[in-house]
Amino acid sequence: MAKLLTIQGGKPLEGSVRVRGAKNLVPKAMVASLLGSEPSKLRNVPEIKDVEIVTNLLTIHGVTVDVEPETGDLTLDPRQMRNAEHSEIDTHAGDSRIPILFCGPLMHKNGEAFIPDLGGCRIGDRPIDYHLEVLRTFGAVVDKQVTGIHITAPKGLKGAKLDLPYPSVGATEQVLLTAVMAEGITELKNAAVEPEIHDLIAILQQMGAIISVNTDRTIRIEGVDRLSGFRHRAIPDRNESASWASAALVTRGDIYVHGAAQRDLTAFLNTYRKIGGEFEVDDDGIRFWHAGDPLKPLVLETDVHPGFMTDWQQPMVVALTQAHGVSIVHETVYENRFGFTEALKRMGASIQLHRECLGSNPCRFGQRNFLHSAVISGPSELKGTDIDVPDLRGGFSHLIAALAAQGTSRVTGIEIINRGYERFIDKIAGLGADVEMTGR
Ligand code: EPU
Repeated sequence: MAKLLTIQGGKPLEGSVRVRGAKNLVPKAMVASLLGSEPSKLRNVPEIKDVEIVTNLLTIHGVTVDVEPETGDLTLDPRQMRNAEHSEIDTHAGDSRIPILFCGPLMHKNGEAFIPDLGGCRIGDRPIDYHLEVLRTFGAVVDKQVTGIHITAPKGLKGAKLDLPYPSVGATEQVLLTAVMAEGITELKNAAVEPEIHDLIAILQQMGAIISVNTDRTIRIEGVDRLSGFRHRAIPDRNESASWASAALVTRGDIYVHGAAQRDLTAFLNTYRKIGGEFEVDDDGIRFWHAGDPLKPLVLETDVHPGFMTDWQQPMVVALTQAHGVSIVHETVYENRFGFTEALKRMGASIQLHRECLGSNPCRFGQRNFLHSAVISGPSELKGTDIDVPDLRGGFSHLIAALAAQGTSRVTGIEIINRGYERFIDKIAGLGADVEMTGR
């Protein structure tokens, strides 16, 4: 019997939760360990599915991965690294998008890379054209096969001048993980500068890489012949922090997020305050709560860092269903990240999706027929319903809505939420929610 989470909504979430290392940094740091000639140690690692997937992928490439779940200490030893069998790699097809980042390290260390079909959340096409173009510019030869992509570098990987069409997080990571050991100098223009990118740069610098970031989104990397290991504490997960903050707001609760860091949440906290949320920062985390007055509607646009992050959009949309008036949200990072609103509408929310850019800046999707703007009218009384989780952030937003709704919600597909939210059912129950898990 499939797992089923039953939620009796309508209770404020109150108490404290702990957030550990960022899902969007930890797997990349694990991949970086492949480049080292010595073992690396990563701390603050959460128990999430994406970490398990990358652990399995590293293991089949001969890397020894030891984890202490309680402390979150991970030791990665790449000294016995080898090429994995294609059939072994293939068993991970569709699991995640992280394998694409193995290309540079595997080519440097093993001379070739085989990448299975990728997975990840269904929030748009999620192409890998930037990644492949980057790799070709370094000198890689890309051979697309039926089961995956085989990549070689017959003449070695050489530093290059690159200019991304869009500041993609993944493509910037691809450049970093390849350029650090490529011959000569790499200059990347229009790079992503998310906090997770800076954390990856800090890790690579510890390993011996030479990387500088300019104020104009240009990253310059001087290739080196050898990298050692790193010892690093992963930055906290700002997306999980924002999710709990939104849960406090929507359920009219009060949640202390142990581990949340204000520094990486500036745009979120501004929005949180404008809608009517309160927060208080101390050395160990941030307390979030509903200020008591009716929530205020907003005009919001997602963007690359330092803008309002696309992963904060879904939980904030749930909060906006409770605001008094009309809100507008323009999603400019992914073309198809409003699918989750379908379930919110069934729960009683009033949300219309539009193809036009309803923000101040026209984006890449405006002329291309994508439903990427939302108009939300509130407040709506939410009622429990049956939900099948569509993707990670959308799924967590459904949980928030179900926790605030009157009546019972039955949620399936919760394994998807495990990809990025550590022990989330225990955490919700610890905050006083009425939840029950059945099935296996
Ligand atoms: N894009 C392309 N071609 C490419 C790569 C990206 O067109 O080759 C487009 C994407 O389709 C998207 C935009 O560029 O429209 C930005 O994508 P980006 O490459 O920045 O995203 P990503 O690296 O695939 C990471 C996070 C996402 C997060 C985004 C934006 C990980 C594993 N994933 O994805 O996180 O939303 O950056 O910050 O780090 C999540 O956590 O739920 C999640 C989806």
